[in-house]
This record gives sequence, structure tokens and C-alpha cells, in this order.
Amino acid sequence: MRISRQGDTLVVEAPAKLNLHLEVLGRRPDGFHDLKTVMVAVSLTDTLRLRPAPRGEFRLTQRLALPNASALGVAPPDGETNLVIRAARALADVAVAPHGAEIELIKRIPWQAGLGGGSSDAAATLLGLDQLWQLNLSKQELHHIAARLGSDLNFFMERSPLAVCTGRGEAVASLPLRRRIDFVIVQPSGGLSTAEVFRHWIPSECPVDSVPLMHWLANESSPLAPQALYNSLQPPARELHAGVERTCRRLAACGLTAVAMSGSGSACFGVCRSRRHAALLAARLRCERDCRAWAVSTMA
Ligand code: C5P
Repeated sequence: MRISRQGDTLVVEAPAKLNLHLEVLGRRPDGFHDLKTVMVAVSLTDTLRLRPAPRGEFRLTQRLALPNASALGVAPPDGETNLVIRAARALADVAVAPHGAEIELIKRIPWQAGLGGGSSDAAATLLGLDQLWQLNLSKQELHHIAARLGSDLNFFMERSPLAVCTGRGEAVASLPLRRRIDFVIVQPSGGLSTAEVFRHWIPSECPVDSVPLMHWLANESSPLAPQALYNSLQPPARELHAGVERTCRRLAACGLTAVAMSGSGSACFGVCRSRRHAALLAARLRCERDCRAWAVSTMA
């Protein structure tokens, strides 16, 4: 999450995330699920431009800057229903003085993809407006507001390249990432609703350990075992959207051995040998029908 100032405007680059390992541990009485997930922030970003507005005025303008946006099905939420406006209002509610904001959002991260774009935009709004309005809230206060808005915001609030997240996803333990990892991300046409994918999740008898993944993340020279990537939500997502299985097969047919779906889908990704390898595969996959592809790297 990079924040810079241009005159009276704060510009925030909000990254997407990939879940390299996601294990759902069980249903909770509050309707959410306990989980444990290993996430990385990657170089596919939305841009937010935040400017002060008269008190109580919150305006959002969205510009879709991603290829073939109409094939993604439903449009991203707009106006008051967008998490960005909800985040701005939640922050204004805890401020002593009244505030307003004009927010321009340039969307490059596809929605309903499991890449956390909406959560990242909302986290960027909280961090950006805290600076713009000179609130200087503590990290703990900002995390508290973030957790009320959604399960993935806290990961982005940490501005960390790698983290293990637990609880419903809001308890974040940041870790250092000492090297760059290159990925190709592919999203089939049509997205998936997070709530619906969780509703279709069935407990598994044999949970998959994240130790091989953590070992690979810490030791560049060790090979990545294909089964080190894991996502408990992949079986229900596959059931709901045939494109998930098709996309994983497409990635495997490109010679990638470590392939998985991110979050609740529908985007899938594969680990590549280099930035060049990821760029070549993304260019090839982009030419195929029903396919949006991006070459990305972990954030420094
Ligand atoms: O927290 P977030 O708004 O991203 O969650 C969207 C929906 O996904 C929730 O309303 C819930 O149905 C489901 N969810 C869940 N368990 C989680 C995270 C999300 O059941 N840990």
C-alpha cells in the first residue's frame, strides 16, 4: 500500500492479495467461519485519489481500467454500497471534527475474484483519510474499524508483503518476505460471491498443513511441492463455477505445477519461474477465449 501526496490529493496504491494456503477450520455461531490463511500482497493495484470535500459530503467516482470488464458479470458496487464509502463514513464517525471526501477509484483488480480488491480499497481509504484529515488514529483504532467492515481489510492495513491470518481473517500476523515471487493470475468470465462459496463449504476429514509452504517461503533454494498451495474453498467454488476447474487445468497445461484458486475465487494463479515467465504466460493466456490474465509479483 503506497501513499503519496500530490497537492491537496493523497494517492494510494491498493494491492490485490493471493491466498497461498487457506484452510477453513469450522463454522462459527455468528455465521462466519474460522480460518487460517497465508496471504501475500501482489503488484496488481487499484489507485485511489482522495481529496477533502465539504463536511458530510462523500463522493465516489469509479473508472474501470481492466480489460473486458463487462465479461466479469455484475458491476462493482457503486455509491453508498461501495465499501470505500462505508469506510470513509465509519472513519468520519470517530473523528472529533466533521469531514468529507471526494474519492476517485481507478479499478484494475477484478471483483468477485478472491483477490481482495474491495477490501484493499477500503483499507486504503481508512489509511489515506486518516492522513488527509490528520486524525492520527492509533493502529489499534484503525484495525478495529477495519475489522467491522470486513474480514480481509486488516491484512491490507498492515501493509505487509506476507502474513498468516486467523480468526475470520482479521487477526493478522505479519511476516517478512525476503524475496520476490512471480505469479500468473487468470480469471474466468463470471465471479463468485464469497458468502455463497462459504455456504457450500463442507468440512474436510484431512486438513492440509501449511508447513511445506512456510518452509518454501523461508528457503528460496527449496523446491515448491505442488500440494504446498491449498485452498479449502476450491471444492465448493468448483461446484458453483465450472470456470474454476477449467482455469486451473489451463494453468497446469502451461507447465505450472503449483496452481490454486485465491480466496473464494473465481481467480486462480500459478507460481512462475521468473517475472519474464509470468509475463509470457499472461500474454499467451490473454489470447484465449473467456480469460483475463495478469503477470504479478509479490510487493517489496
Ligand atoms: O467479511 P466479508 O465481508 O469479506 O465476508 C463476506 C461473507 O463471506 C460473510 O458475510 C460471510 O458469509 C462469509 N465469510 C465467512 N467466514 C469468513 C469470512 C467471510 O463465512 N471468515
